[in-house]
Amino acid sequence: MIRRPAKIAPPKGKLGVLTPGMGAVTTTFIAGVELIRRGQAAPIGSLTQMGTIRLGKRTEHRSPAIKDFVPLAKLDDLVFGGWDIFPDDAYQTARKAGVLSAEHLERVKPFLSSIRPMKAVFDRRYVRRLDGTYLKRGSSKWDLAQQLQEDIEKFRATSGAKRLVMIWCGSTEVYMKPHRLHRDLASFEKALKQNHEAIPPSMLYAYAALRCGVPFANGAPNLTVDIPALQDLAQEKRVPVAGKDFKTGQTLMKTIIAPGLKSRLIGLHGWFSTNILGNRDGEVLDDPESFKTKEESKLGVLEYILQPKLYPELYGGFSHVVRINYYPPRGDNKEGWDNIDIFGWLRYPMQLKINFLCRDSILAAPLVLDLVLFLDLAQRAGLRGIQEWLSFYFKSPMCAPALYPEHDLFIQLMKLKNTLRWLRGERLITHLGTEYYD
Ligand SMILES: NC(=O)c1ccc[n+]([C@@H]2O[C@H](COP(=O)([O-])OP(=O)(O)OC[C@H]3O[C@@H](n4cnc5c(N)ncnc54)[C@H](O)[C@@H]3O)[C@@H](O)[C@H]2O)c1
Repeated sequence: MIRRPAKIAPPKGKLGVLTPGMGAVTTTFIAGVELIRRGQAAPIGSLTQMGTIRLGKRTEHRSPAIKDFVPLAKLDDLVFGGWDIFPDDAYQTARKAGVLSAEHLERVKPFLSSIRPMKAVFDRRYVRRLDGTYLKRGSSKWDLAQQLQEDIEKFRATSGAKRLVMIWCGSTEVYMKPHRLHRDLASFEKALKQNHEAIPPSMLYAYAALRCGVPFANGAPNLTVDIPALQDLAQEKRVPVAGKDFKTGQTLMKTIIAPGLKSRLIGLHGWFSTNILGNRDGEVLDDPESFKTKEESKLGVLEYILQPKLYPELYGGFSHVVRINYYPPRGDNKEGWDNIDIFGWLRYPMQLKINFLCRDSILAAPLVLDLVLFLDLAQRAGLRGIQEWLSFYFKSPMCAPALYPEHDLFIQLMKLKNTLRWLRGERLITHLGTEYYD
């Protein structure tokens, strides 16, 4: 039984948010935070800002706002920095990304224009569709990782931030399997010095963050911090980590619908998902190697939610296909189609069709905000290593090696809220409810 952290340090002073990758998601997040703190917009989609949490018995009618229940940093205390392979400031990038309206962007133009990226660590071998110019030079990956640590410490000093959090919002890297050099920290550091190809840029950022004691979350499906070497480092430095791959559009819907079908024991023959997407993320994912990283991340969810081994007659051998097509006219406004072939009583077939006209970065921005605030909370509460209670936010949740990831959105939410109750010494809610009838 894990003991409840004795005390949560208060969120005093500024909280610095560092994002490797300052593209559509990052700039939508930053612009949104600024509009919200000026009172010109509402934080729709953010659990930390709009969510409530029930405490005690239903008869007690206690449901405070989450932000009043746990000590979270205030939006006014957030300061921003990051890296990109292009030198554009956050305003220019946001204009090009075309997510937010000109009207919204003009209101925060001076603020966004003041946020300029630092030079990135980048290598085209890991993101083939991009070619940046705004890059660090270094004699080895080790040297580049040291430069990133210097950036972090410089940002800490110049921004006046008391605490920092890093969220990877960079492009999806090519598919990589865990390598023997990822197994322990000594091998990993040796590989950095030897410039080994098993270490992509995202791992350098994660390594630098952990070395500097900065919590790290991975918004993309890359391995990044999901390797034993970096998890050991997180334990050693007492830093929380989370990942991978923000759970937004189609996969969010999948993890809402699939638990519902399963709860009614409705069978599944197949689930075909396709998307059109025209932003830079879509362009990167047009490369088969980057797409494979995303595909692996997207395919896992049904297998874990439906548990075909436990329900062979309902879910043994269903087909699951996921496609993403790069289609520039749509920009960030992704359109997803799902065709779901299901069957019911006596095996009679039925179909479900979902056409989701979503906005990728609009769905992702509140997740970035929640992860920043919850990772900072986790660190102040003394939690370290993988934060499974943050699975709620990810398509491919990280978990201990002996476990399978929990993908069901409703179980994930219960886990998250129970973790908050546990942190504050409140009773966990099991929904048993027998006490009302005794
Ligand atoms: N928007 C969503 O709904 C969503 C959901 C899940 C995951 N993601 C992931 O989040 C990431 C960001 O998405 P986006 O729409 O903002 O993409 P984007 O292409 O607009 O932004 C990514 C930025 O990262 C930069 N970059 C790439 N490699 C870098 C490196 N090594 N160092 C620093 N910067 C680097 C690129 O230049 C680009 O500006 C992508 O990996 C995407 O797959 C997004």
